[in-house]
Amino acid sequence: MSQPAPQSLVCRCLSLTQAEIDEVIQAGAGNADEVANVCGAGSGCGSCRGEVNERCRILASSASDL
Ligand code: FES
Repeated sequence: MSQPAPQSLVCRCLSLTQAEIDEVIQAGAGNADEVANVCGAGSGCGSCRGEVNERCRILASSASDL
């Protein structure tokens, strides 16, 4: 399964990388709205929100595998 590089930009408006967004999700944000409240990702043009939600889903399902 291919994973995007951690340093790849997810939110271009706020210049936030996937690693930064993953950190916010791992700290407890469960969806794009919560991520936006914490770091602002998705609060600009909104085009990255789908990707942010997808990361929430992926990280939530990998966390439940632990
Ligand atoms: S790319 Fe994230 S809000 Fe525009």
